[in-house]
Amino acid sequence: MHELSFQSEDKTQRYQDLLSQIRALIEEESDLIANLANTAAALKEAFGWLWIGFYLVKGEELVLGPFQGPIACTRIPYNRGVCGQSWAGKQTLVVPDVNAHPGHIACSSRSQSEIVLPLIDASGKVAAVLDIDSENLAEFDQTDAHYLQKLVEIIARQHFQSRTKTL
Ligand code: SME
Repeated sequence: MHELSFQSEDKTQRYQDLLSQIRALIEEESDLIANLANTAAALKEAFGWLWIGFYLVKGEELVLGPFQGPIACTRIPYNRGVCGQSWAGKQTLVVPDVNAHPGHIACSSRSQSEIVLPLIDASGKVAAVLDIDSENLAEFDQTDAHYLQKLVEIIARQHFQSRTKTL
């Protein structure tokens, strides 16, 4: 069992600690759901954001996967909400004020800002998205986008891009 520890106040250092701990945590485990669940928990412990979770692409929808935080919407159609837009555009979206973002889906009225990153499979398709919500406006910046991008790549490489698929 791993006991995670995040001692630094510095965001970059905190991400670096997190990434090496996530890498160690998930390389020992081949189950996708188990790894998404522990990744959401590790992010919650490291940063304490309101909601952290994964939505998995199933047909024409995103379906709720492992998460930490309040109860959330279970299904999001293609190109709907920030999550559906990240899927459709195959890109990371940083939303500093969710109330000013067209199409945003409010699962919790406490959410003020959001970042969503796609996890890409071997054929270049989006297989899942990581969605993080904060109670603060403009919580996420380029540092968050940079390190969270590395994090989703670690997961995508292991589960969505390897020859021996471990879903
Ligand atoms: N706000 C997201 C929906 C998911 S919840 O925030 C957990 C969106 O607009 O896609």
